[in-house]
Amino acid sequence: MNLRLRPYTVDDERAARRAEEIAAAEDSMFLLGMEPEMTWAEFLAIVEEQRLGLNPSKYRVRGLQLAATVDGELIGRASVRFELNEFFATEGGHIGYVVLPEYRRRGYATEILRQSLLIARAGGVDRILMYCSDSNVGSYTAIERCGGVLDEVIANDEGEPSWRRYWIE
Ligand SMILES: CC(C)(COP(=O)(O)OP(=O)(O)OC[C@H]1O[C@@H](n2cnc3c(N)ncnc32)[C@H](O)[C@@H]1OP(=O)(O)O)[C@@H](O)C(=O)NCCC(=O)NCCS
Repeated sequence: MNLRLRPYTVDDERAARRAEEIAAAEDSMFLLGMEPEMTWAEFLAIVEEQRLGLNPSKYRVRGLQLAATVDGELIGRASVRFELNEFFATEGGHIGYVVLPEYRRRGYATEILRQSLLIARAGGVDRILMYCSDSNVGSYTAIERCGGVLDEVIANDEGEPSWRRYWIE
């Protein structure tokens, strides 16, 4: 599979902003930390700060945001966190990903996760913590295909799907 995880560049703005709109329409986020009024250069600066572990916050710890491309097309993204704060330890986990709707069911999330695991380990993470919704079949299937072992299904408020916590050794 010709899937690459790579840093965003100045040339990605148009495709990445489109991806952000598509993800927002389904209540997800593509560009983490991007605000509506931000320039692309400002967003790239935030990604670089995050890589260096500067200005940590609830939603930002040292880690990488990477574009996922196939044959040069932006098809998704990965975010790999090398540290856990309280939020990521209890909700976000070490790795997050999105595959754009038109590219789903081709094994791309599974491949993004497979490559992200190597990146997380290269960044010093040993056991990988993953969370996903109990109703997100695509996500938990990808996690299980990459060796995830279900630790707990965490009940949520009534009417909300439960969350699954996985560890990948
Ligand atoms: C979840 C998501 C990342 C899955 O991406 P994907 O590239 O379609 O996943 P894969 O192709 O690797 O799917 C792996 C397996 O999951 C299962 N699967 C995937 N989507 C499914 C769906 N909608 N319904 C049922 N099973 C599904 C299939 O068994 C699939 O393998 P198969 O097609 O060979 O049968 C994608 O739907 C997405 O980006 N959703 C929105 C953001 C999100 O939920 N991110 C994860 C947060 S934890």
